[in-house]
Amino acid sequence: MRKFLVVLLALLAVVCFSTKVVKIAAVLPMTGNIAAFGQMAWQGIEIAHEMKTQVLGMPVELVLLDNRSDKVEAANAVSRAIDFEKVVAIIGEIASSHSLAGGAIAEKKGIPMISPTSTNPLVTQGKKYVNRACFIDPYQGAAMAEFAYKNLGVRSVAVFTDIEQDYSVGLSTFFRAAMKKLGGRVFNEFYRTGDQDFTAQLTDVLNKNPDAIYITGYYPEIALICRQARDLGYKGMFLAGDGADAPETIKIGGEAVEGLHFTTHYHPDGTTTEIGQEFVKRFREKYGTNPSAFAALGFDAYLILLDAIERAGSTDPDAIAKAIRETKDFEGASGKTTIGPDGNAMKPVVIDVVKDGKFEYAGSIIPQL
Ligand code: PHE
Repeated sequence: MRKFLVVLLALLAVVCFSTKVVKIAAVLPMTGNIAAFGQMAWQGIEIAHEMKTQVLGMPVELVLLDNRSDKVEAANAVSRAIDFEKVVAIIGEIASSHSLAGGAIAEKKGIPMISPTSTNPLVTQGKKYVNRACFIDPYQGAAMAEFAYKNLGVRSVAVFTDIEQDYSVGLSTFFRAAMKKLGGRVFNEFYRTGDQDFTAQLTDVLNKNPDAIYITGYYPEIALICRQARDLGYKGMFLAGDGADAPETIKIGGEAVEGLHFTTHYHPDGTTTEIGQEFVKRFREKYGTNPSAFAALGFDAYLILLDAIERAGSTDPDAIAKAIRETKDFEGASGKTTIGPDGNAMKPVVIDVVKDGKFEYAGSIIPQL
């Protein structure tokens, strides 16, 4: 009888162990006004999951939660992931305002989170559990200011800020500071997410006649502002941040966005790693297009997280959180990632330009400011 019980217990242990999975949530905007970005990140995460389905000998189960491009939902989805899905870690979110809302919950509940693309400094500031796989906006803003000033000869800029987005407000601030430091002149125009008519702001811009318009929001408004500016007779340059890095910028912007330069995280032509080449190959096979920066960073965020779990040797959230911040020279699709004790990654900024209806790689820079 005793022997039988021992065997039974051993068998149970095997069953329990072998059915154990590592549950990870992806909290992304799959619907709503920035859905294109969440969908692209999900494509990258799926490819990474196909390439690495296990960690510590257990299968990884991904749970996708839609934040509907909404701040309140962004927080709710993180709560749901932790309280109901019982995940050990979270990949997300995409927009900085969503990562701020969701990150506050993850921090309180002590579950590690890694955002592929949220660049606002406040996302990780003062936090132990919230991290990112990308650079931050002081860096991104300085990179565009330097590139515009030195490479494009820009001396005066109209800065368009979406006052509803933490990302946009921050990026404009950092760009302005860098541009002024370089000796350039700037003035401000403001709008809100969802605005359709920019005539008032653009009339002011035409009067002041700057060398460039820099738009720090997301693609729907970027594309519309460029179109309306050209319709009104604006002849200067257009500049933007990573909020422009979606095919929709070209689809909505058409001819008007030709020549638009923007800072971003990644372009397939700037690939420097072997895994980056494999990523591009697999992505083209699966989706028939080139991967975007959001796909590449979704891919990297998943792999960085798995690497941290492996190094932690456990799925304990505290051990994972600690290991994420010890990530060093991790080779992913977007190059090498090192995450510091502040939860931020440091990497070169990629510059893209729209040429003949396509995003062309214009180089990578490490800002000096
Ligand atoms: N860096 C942007 C942010 O922090 C990322 C982003 C761009 C998100 C475009 C959505 C759309 O918000």
